[in-house]
Amino acid sequence: MDQINIYSGEEVLSRIVVADGVEALEECLEQYRNVFVVMDSNVAMKCPAAYDMSQMLNRRGAPGMLVEASEEAKCMETVMDICGWLLDNGADRDALVLAIGGGVTTDMAGFAASLYKRGVRFAYVPTTLLAQVDAAIGGKTGVNAWGYKNMLGTIRQPEFTYLCPQVLESLPMQDFQSGAAEMLKTFIIEDGGHYARAVALLQDLAADFVKACESSSTLSYNEEHWSEVLSRRLSQMTPLIAAAAKVKAGVVSRDQYETGERRKLNLGHTFAHAIESLAHRQHDEMDHGHAVALGMVYAAQLSEKLGMAEEGFAAALERDLDSCLLLVICPYGVKDMAEAMRKDKKAEEGKVHFILPRAIGDVTVHALTVDEAVALLG
Ligand SMILES: NC(=O)c1ccc[n+]([C@@H]2O[C@H](COP(=O)([O-])OP(=O)(O)OC[C@H]3O[C@@H](n4cnc5c(N)ncnc54)[C@H](O)[C@@H]3O)[C@@H](O)[C@H]2O)c1
Repeated sequence: MDQINIYSGEEVLSRIVVADGVEALEECLEQYRNVFVVMDSNVAMKCPAAYDMSQMLNRRGAPGMLVEASEEAKCMETVMDICGWLLDNGADRDALVLAIGGGVTTDMAGFAASLYKRGVRFAYVPTTLLAQVDAAIGGKTGVNAWGYKNMLGTIRQPEFTYLCPQVLESLPMQDFQSGAAEMLKTFIIEDGGHYARAVALLQDLAADFVKACESSSTLSYNEEHWSEVLSRRLSQMTPLIAAAAKVKAGVVSRDQYETGERRKLNLGHTFAHAIESLAHRQHDEMDHGHAVALGMVYAAQLSEKLGMAEEGFAAALERDLDSCLLLVICPYGVKDMAEAMRKDKKAEEGKVHFILPRAIGDVTVHALTVDEAVALLG
């Protein structure tokens, strides 16, 4: 069991525990007497490792509540339901809310815990790759409101985040890919050799998956093949998940409230959010991982045009992402994306803070108007 800390100065704000298996969770919970579990209903049904955790939590007599993990259900009403359920079950100021699920569940349960009785302690067992490397680290909680994503929320650190790759066994390919794109994003921000290792593992996974599909009678996408392929390589994920969590923990320790360096974690996301909003409007299929991958390629192209990255950097990144099955053809032109980018909630005085990669492991923040960016990419 390894531990990574998030600090404020010398003080430990939050612990990230990396374990091979779910057994050590009981040890992490030893000091908490009143644990209240909020679990994603899909995870409760599909994830064998979550079943083992539930058995342990039942033995401890921890009450449990199931929630739906969708962007529609990620709203104030669900947060109120969680708070009401805590009250009905006698949760007091010494309660620990334990959220087990992906980013939707950890964001909602963390938010409810930050509000209930003016704030009780909470901890996370993230069950998606995206939540393990991103959403469950750093203390941002929240829900969607008035048609905007994550409009209401807090920054408050969990007691601990428990990372174990075994929970990913049942994760659908599309959700795995969202996390894979965020993991590569993290290593483009800070590398230490992990980017190449992550690309190699994702390429192996992609090759295994294509082979499994080709050798079966169904040539099309098959979730069962994905599950088999992923479970064979899960233990190889542990060091990469730990490395990505460590990078995010470092960034958050240096800039908890996103006044500077933490912005770098938005690499690719200005374009990705624009792509996702166009896809939503036009009822097109576009998942988050593919939007982030495209967004990182656009950011690399912009960086090249500004003379910050060497020529060929964007094309090399594109090849890497493609070989990991993370790239799709972007159905929209840069001009289509411009309007959505202008509405970026992080824009200041008409300028957007673009996060631009100069090389793998080296990114910078560069403010440009959307028109300047469009002219450079056009
Ligand atoms: N707080 C932050 O800093 C932060 C950062 C990034 C993203 N987010 C938020 O995270 C959310 C996305 O989170 P996500 O990608 O983890 O997705 P999610 O929580 O929506 O889960 C995706 C799907 O996978 C299912 N699932 C989860 N774990 C599973 C498992 N082990 N086996 C089978 N199915 C499983 C869920 O039921 C859901 O259907 C967004 O709402 C986003 O705003 C927050």
